[in-house]
Amino acid sequence: MTAVDVVVMAAGKGTRMKSRIPKVLHKLGGRPLIQHVIATAQALDARRTIVITGHGADGVEDFLRQSATAGGRAVPDFVRQEPQLGTGHAVQQVVPVLPDDGIALILNGDVPLVRPATLQALIDRCAGERLALLTVQMADPTGYGRIVRSGDAVQAIVEHKDASESQRRIGEVYTGFMAVPSARLKNWLSRLTNDNAQGEYYLTDIVQLAVQDGCEVVASPAVEQVEVDGVNSPVQLAELERAFQLRQARALMEQGVRLADPARFDLRGSLQCGQDVEIDVNCVFEGEVSLGDNVRIGPNCVIANARIAAGAVLQAFTHIEGEKLGVEVGEGALIGPFSRLRPGAKLGPEVHIGNFVEVKNSTLARGAKANHLAYLGDAQVGERVNYGAGSITANYDGANKSRTVIEADVHVGSNCVLVAPVTVRAGGTIGAGSVINKDTEPGKLTVARARQATIAGWTRPKKQAK
Ligand code: UD1
Ligand code: CA
Repeated sequence: MTAVDVVVMAAGKGTRMKSRIPKVLHKLGGRPLIQHVIATAQALDARRTIVITGHGADGVEDFLRQSATAGGRAVPDFVRQEPQLGTGHAVQQVVPVLPDDGIALILNGDVPLVRPATLQALIDRCAGERLALLTVQMADPTGYGRIVRSGDAVQAIVEHKDASESQRRIGEVYTGFMAVPSARLKNWLSRLTNDNAQGEYYLTDIVQLAVQDGCEVVASPAVEQVEVDGVNSPVQLAELERAFQLRQARALMEQGVRLADPARFDLRGSLQCGQDVEIDVNCVFEGEVSLGDNVRIGPNCVIANARIAAGAVLQAFTHIEGEKLGVEVGEGALIGPFSRLRPGAKLGPEVHIGNFVEVKNSTLARGAKANHLAYLGDAQVGERVNYGAGSITANYDGANKSRTVIEADVHVGSNCVLVAPVTVRAGGTIGAGSVINKDTEPGKLTVARARQATIAGWTRPKKQAK
């Protein structure tokens, strides 16, 4: 087996994006375009990955360096192409770092949806000796390089701007992907000229050189158009986003996940699902999310970096953002509608969190409930606690965060402020409207508010005559 070295072209400007962000860093499914390409290359067990950068090179290289390091993967090699004198000139920059004994697999940093199997087929067609081109039939091939054949044999790729009228009628086009023996590639690259309509060094001119040298050129057709579609504009980015989301939605449905509408589903990361999971419309999943058996997600939920245990129900408009600490929702918990779970919210089994309740960096034990309009931050909440509407933990004194402990079976009335650090002992009850800043006694009622009084002889003020 010949080793495969991946070359990713990512120096181009992407003028039509009309953005300051380098094109290959625009996101699809929550990840930059180029990361999709690199991930696909990794699935092929490539020996090395070389990325050609130019426009926005620092940003692109920094991103790839950081994401590889964070993911425990090898950082790709970078070569710079400055100025950009065409695709052939781009690949010429790779020559010093490309080993001679492998197959060079040339990919486009802005074509995110190509599948590993398609590239593997291209590598297999190359087999270390042929020039293998990935091609596709297009109804409107305007702008693309045409595959010119004589009989069956590929003779050349002719760029649209250089093509004759009859060549422009050819529907078979070059997709920008090829697999080529590296030693031969280097030889052909050294012979490129820029004698063409755009005055550029075309990588595609190596096809004629291969034919001249008696090297077999094969065209390997792509199965699906969307695999070879590039991103040049926000419109194309949005189109590929939908194609990508549909691909992910299908894969989940094939595993048995029931999506109310695959066209209204967005996954920007990874989603693990157990059996009999149901997801209603317009939900967005980000980062790493797992859903246990029988989990039901209502419409319009946003869920990032969370583990939802079996049988939990998230009702409409629930917002969960686990960030680095993560969020855990226990078995059979009932969350929402309109609940907000923030980093470090760890909810045990059968916990209920209702509308307009925010939980941050807090653990709630089995059966605890906070059903309406409340805040729990930096708190430890025991089993079966009932936390009243409008109550909050005052966990921040303007400088430091402190913890609140609410032991098992406590009832906190409505509109209470628990001023941390403070402990409410087991089985205690806190009267509505209390401000609690000292630890309370177990099993007792604690009230900390002014007594109600009726003022005798009081009359409402009257408007003075002027
Ligand atoms: C290229 C092909 C064309 C093919 C089409 C498929 C050539 C000459 N033509 O055309 O046959 O049908 O792709 O999309 O190769 N790039 C650089 N440095 C440069 C120029 C481009 O790194 O100097 C990168 C771009 O960032 C991009 C890729 O190469 O990732 C392709 O460049 P692009 O300008 O899109 O090529 P096309 O002219 O569209
Ligand atoms: Ca292009």
